[in-house]
Amino acid sequence: MIKRILKWTVSLVLLALLIWFEIAYWTSTNDCDQKTASPTNPMKAIVYCDYGLKNLKLENIEKPAPNDDQLLVRVHAASVNPYDWHFIEGTPKIIRLMGVGLRKPKDTRVGVDFAGTVEAVGKNVTNFKPGDEVFGGRGGAFAEYVCPRANRAVALKPANITFEQAASVNIAGVTALQAIRDKGKVEPGQKVLINGASGGVGTFAVQIAKSFGADVTGVCSARNADLVRSLGADHVIDYTKEDFTKGDQRYDVILDNVANHSLAECRRVLTPKGKYVMIGGGGANEQGFFGVMTRPLKAMVLSPFISQQMGMMMADTNQKDLTVLADMMQAGKLKPVIDRTYKLDQVPDAIRYLEEGHARGKVIIAME
Ligand SMILES: NC(=O)c1ccc[n+]([C@@H]2O[C@H](COP(=O)([O-])OP(=O)(O)OC[C@H]3O[C@@H](n4cnc5c(N)ncnc54)[C@H](OP(=O)(O)O)[C@@H]3O)[C@@H](O)[C@H]2O)c1
Repeated sequence: MIKRILKWTVSLVLLALLIWFEIAYWTSTNDCDQKTASPTNPMKAIVYCDYGLKNLKLENIEKPAPNDDQLLVRVHAASVNPYDWHFIEGTPKIIRLMGVGLRKPKDTRVGVDFAGTVEAVGKNVTNFKPGDEVFGGRGGAFAEYVCPRANRAVALKPANITFEQAASVNIAGVTALQAIRDKGKVEPGQKVLINGASGGVGTFAVQIAKSFGADVTGVCSARNADLVRSLGADHVIDYTKEDFTKGDQRYDVILDNVANHSLAECRRVLTPKGKYVMIGGGGANEQGFFGVMTRPLKAMVLSPFISQQMGMMMADTNQKDLTVLADMMQAGKLKPVIDRTYKLDQVPDAIRYLEEGHARGKVIIAME
């Protein structure tokens, strides 16, 4: 009898879940369905109504107005991150279940990293004024204007770097800083390996690890070896010829932007108290349902049984760390590496290029 009740209960719960999913899927929508009149105060922005790179389009939309706690920033440059293609493609598919939008993207705007000039400030804002040159992150940055909150991810741009360089910093720079300082807790003299040293995060990470006094090994392909060395790497491993997990060298910290070796292989080249910091990995066409999300779970299960620390980090972009990076750039200790620059109407080409997975440093969108 109990068995039968249990069977019916489980079946009913599963059926209810299935019905809920079907309803949620087919009612999943976004503001594209409500657009009617043309904007009264227009600005150009990249928008998408459905998942997929082919659905990105440049449109005139309403120019935002800052609220009491926000700035109105005229964007001079933006930068492209794998974060953007995750949202554009809706991959790994699990993110669609996690609030990004089941059938269609909930948020139709794209881009995060920007640099520009403050045009207006809300009445509660005391730390910025019109005319200030700033950089940071705010959703919808592939547009002529953004309205970041004055106490969130926005900081003054150092005078010695361009808007294009400043626009490259927010996600990649803060990720590299937090991975080295907070997760890796890198100390002078420690051996740090950066897998994926020539990409957006990697080019910042090599310089930051070096500025922390580490002995840095960068893993990249031969064509990027000179670049990675010029950023301060003491050693370079060409991944097309050598597998760093098979070598004799042991590392105190491994920052992994690629996740192309198993956790066991990475552990092998960690010191007994070493730290493995997973940042990301997996190409645009390799995401499937979970992407690399099972890897941190495996690391979590493994961690209590081993002496090393293994885990994933998620960057938290904020004003304090943007200011740390601004000070480093001002002092000449950190220089963003720019690969290519595209225009606003070429955002799809820029994303397509990034999705190939071989950018050298950062890919920029310049507004003028
Ligand atoms: N956890 C977080 O908060 C966070 C934040 C930012 C980014 N991420 C993730 O971190 C990852 C890296 O981001 P990114 O902006 O640096 O990406 P990216 O700029 O697209 O990385 C491209 C670089 O990866 C290198 N690469 C490709 N295959 C490699 C391999 N087998 N071994 C070593 N290097 C290889 C390429 O070098 P070659 O051309 O020489 O192959 C290229 O320079 C992404 O998965 C991203 O989603 C996570």
